[in-house]
Amino acid sequence: MVDVNEIETQEHDVIIIGAGGAGLRAAIECAAQGLDTGVVCKSLLGKAHTVMAEGGMAAAVRNVDDRDNWKVHFRDTMRGGKFLNQWRMAELHAQQAPDRVRELEEWGAVFDRTRDGLINQRNFGGHRYPRLVHVGDRTGLELIRTLQDHGIHQGMEVYMECKILSILTDNGRVSGVLGLWRETGRFVIFKAKAIILATGGGGRCWRVTSNSWEYSGDGLEMAYEAGAELMDIEFTQFHPTGMVWPPSVRGTLVTEGVRGEGGILLNNEGERFMFNYVPERFAPETADTVEEADAWLQDDKNNRRPPELLTRDVVARSILAEVKAGRGSPHGGAFLDIANRREAEFIKRKLPSMHHQFKELAEVDITKDPMEVGPTLHYFMGGIRVDADTQQSTTVPGLFACGECAAGLHGANRLGGNSLSDLVVFGRLAGLGARDYIQNLDSAPGIPADQVTAGVEHARSILNRESGENPFLIHEDIQQVMQDNVGIIRTGEEMSAALTQLEQLDQRTQNVKAHAASQYNAGWHEALDLKPLLLVSEAVTRAALMREESRGAHTRLDFEGEREEWGSVNIVVRKGADGAMEVEKVKRSAPPEELAGIAFATIEELEAANA
Ligand code: FUM
Repeated sequence: MVDVNEIETQEHDVIIIGAGGAGLRAAIECAAQGLDTGVVCKSLLGKAHTVMAEGGMAAAVRNVDDRDNWKVHFRDTMRGGKFLNQWRMAELHAQQAPDRVRELEEWGAVFDRTRDGLINQRNFGGHRYPRLVHVGDRTGLELIRTLQDHGIHQGMEVYMECKILSILTDNGRVSGVLGLWRETGRFVIFKAKAIILATGGGGRCWRVTSNSWEYSGDGLEMAYEAGAELMDIEFTQFHPTGMVWPPSVRGTLVTEGVRGEGGILLNNEGERFMFNYVPERFAPETADTVEEADAWLQDDKNNRRPPELLTRDVVARSILAEVKAGRGSPHGGAFLDIANRREAEFIKRKLPSMHHQFKELAEVDITKDPMEVGPTLHYFMGGIRVDADTQQSTTVPGLFACGECAAGLHGANRLGGNSLSDLVVFGRLAGLGARDYIQNLDSAPGIPADQVTAGVEHARSILNRESGENPFLIHEDIQQVMQDNVGIIRTGEEMSAALTQLEQLDQRTQNVKAHAASQYNAGWHEALDLKPLLLVSEAVTRAALMREESRGAHTRLDFEGEREEWGSVNIVVRKGADGAMEVEKVKRSAPPEELAGIAFATIEELEAANA
């Protein structure tokens, strides 16, 4: 029997789930707006995927190239996203990112400087000009440190080591969440008028990933169960450069900053192969020769970019093609060489974490030898469908989402560095959205005892059955299915097979068993993560199966190239009335004329208009 009144209850105006960059920025805004604010983290405060955005935060602050401005940033973002981005989100992001950088600096972020003492900016894939403000190769870490410090002084309450199991709703409006303290195994109810999800993506559905153990898609699953829609979920980003050796660290991120600072990719024949993979339509903007590529890196305002800084989808596919052609590195990747391109002191100063990481983990000195790298699942472009200005779910009143778990900004492919700016721009807007929502509430929603009881009973059943499946083995099988069948290159046949296998894994999960008591029970926590892992894997696979074209990060061997009819639709996933997953094509609305003019202009037209 579950006595709901016996369960610990905490109450705040707003509860934020997730304490990465988006969650912390949302919390700061809520507290600044006078809301009683609680932040819940699945692990420790500060341990977030935000720190894996190492190379920088994109914002047109124009300290390094004064031709930059929000319009060029907006245009780059739309082109990188293959025009599937939500126009308004891309506009808000490009316009507001520079203010968010200045604000971080006021709050204590110590960015690298130019010789003139301005915040420095570096090159990154798909960005027309050097645009990424950075702190060596630890930018995400500095962002988290700054937001944490500032947030704590704003008076937010932080709850750590708490896994949230479900969103509670009262007549369709959110009223709180049910959680579980990881340490004690006791349940807790967080009562709130608004919930902001900032839970990141679901990278742990794949075997090779830059994501750490927390990223099992919890926010996506609990939003879906509460009636929210997921959008663009078929677009999963494989960062081109993860470590491939040794096996224990396979997938660990190697920042794009290495290429931004002059690193090049080579195959096992010593060929700089990226010149062979420049897509037709980017050719005028991408260097044709080594000399042109090098000239651009020397920052002489030559407009032709090195091919290593093409967008991530292109670079990841190119590495895979080299490996398949037998030209890969010994452990199935490519060589990333900066040792022969830059002085050792420069490398240690600009890329200290990479220097340390390779020395410690792979016994490679990157100032002397090349790194071995290959694609790693890094990021979800898709997520919870939200209103652009308020970040409120399109279907669940009082539910907000920001950062990686929200869809819209990045379309079919995210540009590196746009994630950190996304977090702070939309974290702030989510906080403001929650304030407006709460101000207009006529009555406080109540806690539904039946939903709490169902959540507690489900979690306890995993402990209480006599015997059953091992959750760790099921998780490994999910990762294998996704890695083998829903990777960088996809086919209908493989994805259909994946759905069948996921269904079988779902059946096994109904009988999962965690041994021992509820305290410190890692097996129980793993078992509780299986539901989101399976739900997210299914949603990605179904949406990817429906999209019969190749666009951005979604590449179909059986449907090559972009197809016009797919450029005008987003795919939306929701829970149907019968409990089954519904997948629907939703027509995109036409862009405002001004924004379309910017996105489709040539760079020369845009520069002339701004001159
Ligand atoms: O490569 C990187 O530093 C990652 C950046 C990002 O994902 O934005």
